[in-house]
Amino acid sequence: MEASLTARDRVGIQDFVLLDNYTSESAFLDNLRKRSHENLIYTYIGTLLVSVNPYKELDIYSKKQMDTYMGVNFFELPPHIYALADNVFRTMQSEYNNHFILISGESGAGKTEASKKILQFYAVSCPSTKLLNNVRDRLLLSNPVLEAFGNAKTLKNDNSSRFGKYMDIQFDHQGGAVGGHILSYLLEKSRVVHQNHGERNFHIFYQLVEGGEEDLLRWLGLERNCQHYRYLVQGDCAKVSSINDKSDWKMVRKALSVIEFSESDIENLFAIIASVLHLGNVKFEADVRGYASLNNNQEMHWLLGIPTQVLQQGLTHRKIEAKTEEVLSPFSVDHAVYARDALAKAIYGRTFNWLVNKINESLANKDSSRKTVIGLLDIYGFEVFNVNSFEQFCINYCNEKLQQLFIQLTLKSEQEEYEMEGIEWEPVPYFNNKIICDLVEEKHRGIIALLDEECLRPGEATDLTLLEKMEEEIGGHPHFVTHKLADKKTRKTLERGDFRLLHYAGEVTYCVVGFLDKNNDLLYRNGKEVISFNFYCKKQVVTQFKSSLVGLTEILMSKEPWYVRCIKPNEAKQPGRFDDVLVRHQVKYLGLMEHLRVRRAGFAYRRKYDIFLQRYKPLCPDTWPNWRGTAAEGVQRLIKHLGYKPDEYKMGRTKIFIRHPRTLFATEDAFQICKHRLATRIQAKYKGYRVKGDYLKQREAATKIENCWRGLMARKEREKRAWASLILFLRFIKGFMTRNQPSCNDNSEYLAYVRTNYLTRLRDNLPRTVLEKDAWLTAPPILQEASQLLKKIYIRHMVKKYVRGITPHRKAQLLLKEQTSSMFKGKKENYPFSVCRPFVDTRIGAEDISIKVLQMIRHEHIKYSVPVVKYDRNGFRPRLRQLIFTQEAAYLVEETKIKQRIDYSSLKGMSVSNLSDNFLILHVTCDDIKQKGDLVLQCDYLFEALTKLCVIANKQNYIKVVQGSVRFDIQPGREGFVDFKSGQESMVYRAKNGHLMVESTRTKSR
Ligand SMILES: Nc1ncnc2c1ncn2[C@@H]1O[C@H](COP(=O)(O)OP(=O)(O)OP(=O)(O)O)[C@@H](O)[C@H]1O
Ligand SMILES: [Mg+2]
Repeated sequence: MEASLTARDRVGIQDFVLLDNYTSESAFLDNLRKRSHENLIYTYIGTLLVSVNPYKELDIYSKKQMDTYMGVNFFELPPHIYALADNVFRTMQSEYNNHFILISGESGAGKTEASKKILQFYAVSCPSTKLLNNVRDRLLLSNPVLEAFGNAKTLKNDNSSRFGKYMDIQFDHQGGAVGGHILSYLLEKSRVVHQNHGERNFHIFYQLVEGGEEDLLRWLGLERNCQHYRYLVQGDCAKVSSINDKSDWKMVRKALSVIEFSESDIENLFAIIASVLHLGNVKFEADVRGYASLNNNQEMHWLLGIPTQVLQQGLTHRKIEAKTEEVLSPFSVDHAVYARDALAKAIYGRTFNWLVNKINESLANKDSSRKTVIGLLDIYGFEVFNVNSFEQFCINYCNEKLQQLFIQLTLKSEQEEYEMEGIEWEPVPYFNNKIICDLVEEKHRGIIALLDEECLRPGEATDLTLLEKMEEEIGGHPHFVTHKLADKKTRKTLERGDFRLLHYAGEVTYCVVGFLDKNNDLLYRNGKEVISFNFYCKKQVVTQFKSSLVGLTEILMSKEPWYVRCIKPNEAKQPGRFDDVLVRHQVKYLGLMEHLRVRRAGFAYRRKYDIFLQRYKPLCPDTWPNWRGTAAEGVQRLIKHLGYKPDEYKMGRTKIFIRHPRTLFATEDAFQICKHRLATRIQAKYKGYRVKGDYLKQREAATKIENCWRGLMARKEREKRAWASLILFLRFIKGFMTRNQPSCNDNSEYLAYVRTNYLTRLRDNLPRTVLEKDAWLTAPPILQEASQLLKKIYIRHMVKKYVRGITPHRKAQLLLKEQTSSMFKGKKENYPFSVCRPFVDTRIGAEDISIKVLQMIRHEHIKYSVPVVKYDRNGFRPRLRQLIFTQEAAYLVEETKIKQRIDYSSLKGMSVSNLSDNFLILHVTCDDIKQKGDLVLQCDYLFEALTKLCVIANKQNYIKVVQGSVRFDIQPGREGFVDFKSGQESMVYRAKNGHLMVESTRTKSR
């Protein structure tokens, strides 16, 4: 940053802070001279702007220049008053506080020009609306009006401000200039009646005479010749080449109407100005008694609004108030002249105040919302003439006060601030002019107090008595010398009526003559009546001035200060001339060297932690968007992130101090970039939001259109379908009605539909097993035949499928079942119930047969075993037994004992009843004596056991199904009977006839 600054800054150095030999006044002057010779009139000392009057128009105040400086970092461009103005404005905007720019320098150094440039910059750079433009125009045009009435040509400056001006510009939160207020200080009224040689009265008089319209002049009784008016010719330079009174007049007229002066206000205003001119021409003659008299004074006629009689008397007599009555005491000619001039001054002074008030009314901002303010203080510079009077005393006192303020606000407060912030400070020696301020304004002992006292004191008080009093009271003061008090050498430079003050800016010798009069600003009682002024102000001029300065100091103290120090390069008002002695003197009394020393010794920039953090927090991710800890910690984190080196900054108690401007510039630059990035992001988000909104709207609209279109199409489709279905329906009806006729055009579709429909339904409702084969969907008449065919095919298919799924084991089972069926179907009552009970290989596992038994019969291969109940042949007692069929014989086993073996060859028959009991009788051959006889058994698996027995023993035809009773052999030759009958419940008992009675319940035939 600094490197680029130096590169840009080809002539000298544009910030004195960067001056190598910063303690050398000569180096300072060299730099100033070098730059001003190159028309580089502005140079910084940190944020203070030093301006050297070029005494020629420079091309650096164009709109383009303003645009260049607008919103740009203070130190980024070559120094300029616009940079300062912009910086003040932006600081005010960002920190939302009040500021003032103190423009100082001696008469003709360029203060007023600087303040105008600042105002013009704001006029262009601030936001503009119709309303704001109105305020802006008034602010701008208040200048020519005030300059016309308050400025005059002096020896030092052709447009010297003869009043002090403090102007507040009020800005709203958007930076729009919404109002203003002007305070004026100590107008040099004596100029109205007296001008030194080479000087002029206030511009307005010449403007009126030179530029005023014929009608106006006629109405005011004026002639277009300044030479005719005594108040305009004393300086003998009514015409000045640098001033164009005619065009200035036009400007003032225009300005007055923009600032909303009514026509009658304007007329009255110029009537008063004309009256002052006429008043100046009023002459007095001494009558026989030596008293002043007004003879044949045609001017009296033009002193508008005042009865001639009253005026005449007022100008030539003084009203003395005795105890009960008022006495008129005639004036001498000298007194009358004095009274006339006093009246002229008073009229002009009050008119000026009225003017300022009127402008203020027009600039007043009616909106009460909070405003921030930038104040512009353009106040008379330090003045030293050959002969210095009361006015110079006041002006120089004012400059002492401002210097004091400057000291307080910068040098002193700077040191104090360092101390307060706990930052080490290398003391900078500076001259504190408080001692001179005290000399002038101290209560009871100061020059002002002595002057007032002398004015009010009864008795013969004169300027010389004042001088004596001062010698008496403050004679020993190191900054006060008079002819009497001075040493020999100094005495030579002083007249008897002089006193000299050693101001901070240098020595000034004042001639005490006129001090009392000017301080009294006497307007004799009659004079006051003349201008209808019945307020008698007891305060002396200098005291009023003192209090207005105290007010001003208070106003300034509450604001952030910025400084423009104007330097006058030569007394001849010539461009290109740089008078070293003159400039060195100004550099000294403007305190520039001290200021530079302070700047270099300390830190170029400081800000409260919270403000610094608030501004730069976007630069560190830890502090953005919000820092939760204290502001100081936040700043510490921030600068660590920014990589500040330890010698570049110091952390105070409440503020951060940055040593070099370049550190701050780098931070500010980074901030600017970051700000743009953030703004771009916000912009992008916002644009995205907008576009998304548009998109959603469009999509909604498109959906709506689509819906309408679809609805329309759907309705058309529905109509089409309704029409089609109506036709279909009619065809269907026709088809239905002709369904039994041979296939024809009318019914072919219907029949096809009936066919499809039947086949589809049939497909979904086919019988799942062969057993369900009768559940066949009833076919419509036209499909009867086809249905029967399909049924057959389908059943065959199902049977095939079923048969394919049967295992050899199952097949064997089924074959057995088939045999059972051939033996019992339709013969025995409970046979149907057995059909659904599948046969198994055996009912008793080998593990449940006694090993002993197994050992005995295993070789015969056990084929089937079943538990049975055997009824004793005698007594018919039931016994649980196992019936085992082997390859060769049937065995009746009781646990481990084989109770009976029936060889199949000896099995001659098997009897069962036709009822639903489970009894069977095995008939055996009784040839063998060892045989025990027939077996009467009851078996739960009767059909299974019998079928197995028939197959194993190959005795298929041996079964007899009997009705009533079965005879059996108990033993050879002895017979028994088993009777079967149906009953209420199943029971087995020995009947009275000795038969075994088997009752079984009747089953419903299937
Ligand atoms: N920046 C500038 N560019 C060109 N000329 C300038 C500039 N500043 C001042 N001048 C010239 O210097 C003259 C005196 O300036 P200005 O009236 O501002 O002085 P001042 O400091 O206000 O003096 P005073 O205390 O007498 O009012 C101006 O009329 C103008 O001719
Ligand atoms: Mg000025």
